[in-house]
Amino acid sequence: MTSTTTAHDGARTLAIDGGTPVRSQPLPWEFPGGNRIGAEELELIDRVVKAQSPFRFYGSDLQHMVNTFEREWCEKFGHRHALGVSSGTAALSIAMGALGVGPGDEVLVPGLLWVSCISAVVRAGAIPRLVDIDETFCMDPADLQRKIGPRTRAVLCVHISGAPGDLAAIAEICRSHDVALIEDCAQAAGARQHGQAVGTFGDIGIFSLQLNKTITSGEGGVVVTQRDDLFRRIIALHDLGYARDADGRLDTSDVNCQLWGIGARMSELAGALALAQLRKLPDIVSSMRYAKWRIRRELADIEGLGLRDIIDPSGDSGLVLIFTLPDEATCRRFVDALRAEGISGPSGSLAVVAMQEWGLHWYCNIPSLVHKRSNSRDGMPWSHPANAFAADYEYAAGELPGCDALRSRGALLSVGSTYTEADIDDIIGAFRKVAGELL
Ligand SMILES: Cc1ncc(COP(=O)(O)O)c(C=O)c1O
Repeated sequence: MTSTTTAHDGARTLAIDGGTPVRSQPLPWEFPGGNRIGAEELELIDRVVKAQSPFRFYGSDLQHMVNTFEREWCEKFGHRHALGVSSGTAALSIAMGALGVGPGDEVLVPGLLWVSCISAVVRAGAIPRLVDIDETFCMDPADLQRKIGPRTRAVLCVHISGAPGDLAAIAEICRSHDVALIEDCAQAAGARQHGQAVGTFGDIGIFSLQLNKTITSGEGGVVVTQRDDLFRRIIALHDLGYARDADGRLDTSDVNCQLWGIGARMSELAGALALAQLRKLPDIVSSMRYAKWRIRRELADIEGLGLRDIIDPSGDSGLVLIFTLPDEATCRRFVDALRAEGISGPSGSLAVVAMQEWGLHWYCNIPSLVHKRSNSRDGMPWSHPANAFAADYEYAAGELPGCDALRSRGALLSVGSTYTEADIDDIIGAFRKVAGELL
């Protein structure tokens, strides 16, 4: 629904100050893949149910949903190997195990991430070390270069909100220090940089198929790698710690693959959903990218409104539009004013969010990290003698100046894959109206 208000009925008075809002109907609650679940998903799930065969490795009438999903995923993105798993969080733990991360190691992570990135490192017995972000809102290669050192076992970069940072620079720093690179692409399925799919720049990439992501199987994840040696370990770790033969039977004989698995297999039901969604991904990404870049183009001339640096716009997955305001107070007021103009979804959804409200995405918002909590009574990993090198690492706000500044004056808009031109017009209209008064 577009604005029909005019200057004489209070259109220029901000709705937050009693004026007429740009729109009166909520925006759609955006779950890019979730909103498109339909007949295709039903058909594949129906096949699994009718075959009574929901386990991926064997069964009376196996439908090979997970296998097909993995094969089509590789074809689409150029990954050499892909493995469906139960979640992005599990995928991160599998990545740590595959690379042998443990006590005595540090893993470099950006200050803007998701709590699962930290929990995977901590549960592996290693220490997370914070790296600042730059205007891409992803890991800053200059700070990475300063912090990478003899203790660094891996670098975990996070393609936050659907677009990667400077992957060429990050990958080069890792290569020159002989350190493994993990790409957390949980929020960036379908993204590319200069034609190359995310997840192919590093040693291991992980994706999430949770409901908020580009495509979804409700819960689910994918681990990708170009390396044969790692893939064998990845398969074993997601399962019971051992490889399987062609018939799906465990093979415990390989001494190089006798590990401890975490039971994170993808079921055929999740595989059926994931497969149907994967086939819709190009459509979803192109709709989101179109909406986001139309909005960005039409806001580009507003002085005082900053837009996140995107290194390769043509490869952006489009999921989220991140913007900045000159200072924290203006940012808060701007977000409240946009919401009052009707740029919000149904109750419970978050269409516009001030970065400060973005919970466990910020290092300093994660209490278990700030207070160095442990799952076990002995205080692992913080108390492990091999981790004594990290005794003075701190995680409270103030550790990363770039991150802290962007957190205080940054905000984000979820971009819908089902937005109509009228929805997009309203978003642009509301931004311009609010900016006209506040900037
Ligand atoms: C950046 C990032 N990494 C990892 C994950 C974990 O994925 P999952 O929710 O599938 O466990 C998420 C999910 O929110 C995420 O946003």
